[in-house]
Amino acid sequence: MLKLQVIVGSTRPGRMADKVLPWVIERATSHAAFAVELLDLRDWPLPMFAEHPGSIGDFKDPTYSDPIVKRWNRKIAESDAYLVVTPEYNHSIPGVLKNAIDSVFVSYAFRNKPIAAVTYSGGLAAGSRAIEHLAHCAIEAEMVPLRNNVLIPYVGKAFDPAGTPLDSEAHIWMGVMLDDLAWWARLLKRGRADDELPPGMFRVLAARSAGNANAKPAP
Ligand SMILES: Cc1cc2nc3c(=O)[nH]c(=O)nc-3n(C[C@H](O)[C@H](O)[C@H](O)COP(=O)(O)O)c2cc1C
Repeated sequence: MLKLQVIVGSTRPGRMADKVLPWVIERATSHAAFAVELLDLRDWPLPMFAEHPGSIGDFKDPTYSDPIVKRWNRKIAESDAYLVVTPEYNHSIPGVLKNAIDSVFVSYAFRNKPIAAVTYSGGLAAGSRAIEHLAHCAIEAEMVPLRNNVLIPYVGKAFDPAGTPLDSEAHIWMGVMLDDLAWWARLLKRGRADDELPPGMFRVLAARSAGNANAKPAP
């Protein structure tokens, strides 16, 4: 079984995320590939990111500014794939979600794992801009952001009373996205186990110091 963490990107009281989430969890848990864990950022009141060498301490086993940051890094490290459920805020993802991604710092816990999203908004845009920003953040965290995602416009009227999307397209895209997540999660898990390259920054530093060691002394 592959581990899939579902991360909820809105924490505000009365959030529309609660309309979307039961369906997402139901579909993800019904997928044969996944053992699903819900990570609701309401349960993870992370401080605003402000880590620095003094708060990190030993980079191989960082302390961080607060124990919850360490727990968050360890929790994220457990998963093989991520499915983010997020609204669009100001053409991006909510600050609380960006902060949760930023807080995975130094541990490389997201690295070489796939990420997809179910986005929604109150209007027609359906979180289309949020998903583009999320993909940019994911690249910098060395995740693999997937092309196929689920976008839900007019979230307030998108579900029937039983919590099922009224648009049949949502069901189709959900199936495609979960299959893609499973495929990439399997592939990357194998790759991580086989011969994962160290993070690029480590290799750059190693190359620089090797270059310096070989450099001729200035005349
Ligand atoms: C701060 C803020 C910014 C928003 N910006 C956008 C936006 O850029 N595009 C959009 O389509 N909807 C935007 N909305 C509407 C939200 O997508 C909509 O209210 C959604 O239900 C919020 O999700 P939530 O209720 O789970 O927090 C914004 C809402 C908030 C609170």
